[in-house]
Formats: sequence, structure tokens, C-alpha cells
Amino acid sequence: MIKTDFNKYTSKFITLADKTKLNRAGKNIIKSFNNGDLSYWNDINSFVTREELSQIIEVANYVRDNCDVFIVIGIGGSYMGSKALIEALLPSFNRNHPEIIFLGTNLSSDYYKEVIEYIKDKNVIVNVISKSGETLEPNIAFSIIKYIMEGKYNNEELRDRIIVTTDAKKGSLRKLANDNGYFTFDIPSKIGGRFSALTPVGLFPLAVMGIDILNLLEGFIDASTYNDDAINYAITREALFRKKKYVEAFTVYDEKLYYFTEWLKQLFAETQGKSGKGILPISIVNTRDLHSMGQFLQQGNDIVFETVIGVEKASVIKVAKYDKTLHEINRIAEEKVCIAHYSDKTPSLVIHIEELDEYNMGELMHFFIVAAIAGALLINVNPFDQPGVQKYKELINEGINNIFIF
Ligand code: PA5
Repeated sequence: MIKTDFNKYTSKFITLADKTKLNRAGKNIIKSFNNGDLSYWNDINSFVTREELSQIIEVANYVRDNCDVFIVIGIGGSYMGSKALIEALLPSFNRNHPEIIFLGTNLSSDYYKEVIEYIKDKNVIVNVISKSGETLEPNIAFSIIKYIMEGKYNNEELRDRIIVTTDAKKGSLRKLANDNGYFTFDIPSKIGGRFSALTPVGLFPLAVMGIDILNLLEGFIDASTYNDDAINYAITREALFRKKKYVEAFTVYDEKLYYFTEWLKQLFAETQGKSGKGILPISIVNTRDLHSMGQFLQQGNDIVFETVIGVEKASVIKVAKYDKTLHEINRIAEEKVCIAHYSDKTPSLVIHIEELDEYNMGELMHFFIVAAIAGALLINVNPFDQPGVQKYKELINEGINNIFIF
């Protein structure tokens, strides 16, 4: 269940008239999501086939039984979705077996040294994920991990311990997997990196970690009933932008959603930030950041609006002193902060889910994907490319003499 309120804390900044023109464009976007050329976003088969799903579950069970540490290599859209869902849905302590380590998101030698030391005597299975198969950071991570694994396992064992998720036909990683007979999952050609959390890119690591991927997918697909709402959200944030609210703070009141805000930053920055356009996404985790960013939002430069993502139900912990549950107090904090910010300079758009579970997180991801694509279409930019990211990738590869690391 997704509940939204885009009026309560915005009406002093934007009027219905500010949205009229955008609403007209929004109608065409709604049509193309509901019945037109974007309707593939509502179809589960665009993300994963039935056969792939059973393979994902089967291989995930094998991985769980055969390793201590599961290393997931990928960057950007090839890791952020599963990281966000794992942090949101798994317990923070004493997690399921196996332990998961994400690698390939940085070039920090000290971090790598720690990982190498840590996995040295452990049973390892690796899932390397890259749609293009050409991205430097995962290439480096894979070459380092593969080297270590080659010291421990023979070729046949390696084939049981290296799983590749990449394009069905293209790229060096596909070639490497084919040449060595590694098990592979295909990334659907239509679904680019940041949109791919619920393709085998995210579904496989999530299944390994014991997350109910069927419920997640059910929520994701059911959320197409909220397409109108998602497009209304896109229209409202664009109307705010046109009133000089250039920065969108994705604000959560649950520590477990921190990586979800990172996923949102990636989704919106790469989908809309091009051709000199786009709203700058930032993230806030409250109540921690009320003691830092809260000051700016209350009284600083008035270029920010908030998109507050709230959760309605949570574990019940009594706070005897206030005769309330901790969650009741957290929800009061959310409401009062919206009121406080609105009374000065900062409007808020409010989006609530019922609880932190697979179904609700699936819905929320779909909602924001539709909104990000719609937001890009409203400002006439291509939602599906990321030429700026390509530029750094090319230059960095050039800088190290086009080395090919596998
Ligand atoms: O959204 C995107 O397309 C990017 O963030 C990519 O996911 C990221 O650059 C990684 O690319 P690849 O999966 O090709 O290694």
C-alpha cells in the first residue's frame, strides 16, 4: 500500500495553476505507461522469465549451502538495488548465512586489503554483475578475487563458484563467461542498470540472502495501479523546481532505509541530470540529520524541497516515560518536522508505505522508477541513457592505457 500527500506541505509554494501545463504532458505519459510504449514496465516478463526465476531460486539454494562468504561484484545499478533491499529487509545483526560482501564499488587499496585478508581462509562464491561487461571497478574487483580463488580451487571448482550476470550477447564479461563455461544469468536488454534491481541483477543476490523475491516482484508489478500517483509526484516536484526549489532531499525516518535513499539518488541523478537540466537529489536520515541538515532546511538557502518516505507500522517498543511506542514518537517527529520546515522555507511531498517488507518495498521501487522516467520525459531528456557516466568510464580506461583486466 502506498499513500501519498503532495498538497498538505506544498500549497503555499505552488498552486494548481502551476501544475496545469505539466498535467497535460502528464496525461500522455500516463497513457504510455498504462497502454502505450512504456507499458513493459508493468509486465513482469520484461524483468525476469518464469524459467529464470526458478533457476535463480535453485542456484541461490546451492550458494547458501556451499559458501561462507558470498561476494557480489558490481557498481551503480549493478549493485545498488540489492544493497538497498538487503539493508531494508534483513535484520541488522546476526544475519542469515552466508555473509554477503559487496565489492567493485571503489578503488580503495586499504579496503581491498581487508577483504582479501578476511576471505583468505573462507569458502567463497562470487557473483560478478556488469551489463556492459566493460566497467573498470568491477573488472578490477573480479580480477583480484578470481586470482585469490585460483589459488584455492581447481578449474572445475571455479565453475561452481563463479556466477556471471551480464548482457545475453554483448561485452567482454559475456565472452569470458562463455569461454570458461561459467554459469550465467542474462540482464534483459531493455532494462538498464539503475532500473534493474528486480531483474536477475538484484533478484539473485537477494534470493541468496533469503529475501522473498516472489513477494517483492508481486509488489513491484501490483504497483502499476499507482502509476497516476507516481506521475502526479513527478509533476509536483517539477512544479516546485520551477519555483526555484532546485534540490530534492529524500528524507527517511528509518536507518534501515539509508541505502534506499542512495538507490533513489542514483535513480534520479542518472535518469534526469543531463543537458544542463534536472533536480539535484540528496539524502537525509532522520532524526540524526535534524541535527545537521535540519538547520539548513529550516532557515538556509531556500532551494530545497523534501520527499519524505514514511513507514506506517513497525516493531512495538514501549517508551514508558512518554506512554507511547517508539514508532509513535518517530511518526510524531516526522509530522512535526514537516510542519516546522513548511512554516519556514521547505515544502514536503509525503509518501508512506504500510511496513518494511518485501511487498511494500517492491511497490515503492516501481513507484519511484515510474516517477523518475516521467520526470525525465517532462523535461525532455532521455531517461534511459547516462552519457556523463560513459564519459568518465572512457577517460579512466584511456588513462590506464585501455588495460583489459580479466
Ligand atoms: O544505471 C546505469 O546504467 C549505471 O549506473 C550502471 O549500472 C553502472 O555504470 C554499471 O554499469 P555496468 O553494469 O555496465 O558495469
